[in-house]
Amino acid sequence: MQPKPIKAAITAVGGYVPEDVLNNADLEKMVDTSNDWIVSRTGIHERRILKEEGIGTSFMALKAIDDLKQKVADWNPETIDLIIFATITPDMPLSATAAYVASQIGATQAFGYDLTAACSGFLYGLSTAAAFIGSGRYKKVLVIGADKMSSIVDYEDRTTCVLFGDGAGAVLMEASTNGYGWEDEILRMNGEQRMALTIKAGGSMQPITSEALKNKDNYLQQEGRTVYKMAVSGMCQVTLDILANNQLSSDDLAYVVPHQANLRIIEGLQDRLGVAEQKVLKNIQYYGNTTAATLPLVLNDYHHKFKAGDKIILTAFGGGFTWGAAYLTWAYST
Ligand code: UT7
Repeated sequence: MQPKPIKAAITAVGGYVPEDVLNNADLEKMVDTSNDWIVSRTGIHERRILKEEGIGTSFMALKAIDDLKQKVADWNPETIDLIIFATITPDMPLSATAAYVASQIGATQAFGYDLTAACSGFLYGLSTAAAFIGSGRYKKVLVIGADKMSSIVDYEDRTTCVLFGDGAGAVLMEASTNGYGWEDEILRMNGEQRMALTIKAGGSMQPITSEALKNKDNYLQQEGRTVYKMAVSGMCQVTLDILANNQLSSDDLAYVVPHQANLRIIEGLQDRLGVAEQKVLKNIQYYGNTTAATLPLVLNDYHHKFKAGDKIILTAFGGGFTWGAAYLTWAYST
């Protein structure tokens, strides 16, 4: 008999959001907006902000890992082989935040790197972890999705500042012992419209200069409508394709975990997939769009409901453009 292929499974989840809440009433005092506009157009009521000066995304990631550790019976950081840190807001452009996190948690035998794929970063990170584990090369991978969006948002720009929040999530991926785990994926990217969601300055094409600062090119800018349309069609297409490739109907799914950018995008996906509303998991109302952190934060908020064998779809869309969907069977019951 052929040996069964090794599958990678998520075996623990952790999350963290900062204590400080920025709600819609606060934003009404900062820019020309209203609670009604924000709620009706985005579904967001509040978001969390990391206010303390001098701390970056790693602070939240380490808190999320602290939370994850509580859920691992035999936590030993020296057994971690790889740390993938999905973020567009690393502590510094150099060095990798993954390396700092490894040292802080005592993962002395690990290597790792930061992964830049905006809102799809965590999904890409899971895919990489699943491939390394599936090949038999590594056994234990820590995948982190974390972003301090408040560090790149212009709080005078009403078109973006109402959307984003800060947060971090982390999962442990290991070789599955019960046959459940990573089943399939479709990942895509297309850079033709990279200027539709971008930070113009601070990279090699346009370093930060006083002119760039004057133009606010160091902040995130977005053509909301363009991104909206692509997000709905992109996530729907890959999700429908992955269902078809695996002979699944939407009724077979226990849960859909979508990127949390806009409640209307999530509802559009829900309608086009024909999935029952309660199966499509949401926490955007409390955290806004936390970029690479949305998927692990949803997993962290809902994993107590999951049962071993539950069929789950994760899907994301973000700057780049980058997007994709993954199908996994959840490996444990809490
Ligand atoms: O996570 C990465 C991927 N990102 C996304 O998926 C985000 C995708 N885009 C969106 O979610 C939506 O496009 C937004 C929420 C960003 C905007 O919603 P929209 O329904 O597409 O609005 P719009 O950009 O077409 O703007 C409509 C109007 C404009 O006014 P005019 O030109 O019609 O007079 C905007 O200036 O709403 C105005 N507006 C606002 N009004 C009050 C834009 N932002 C605000 C605001 N408060 N905060």
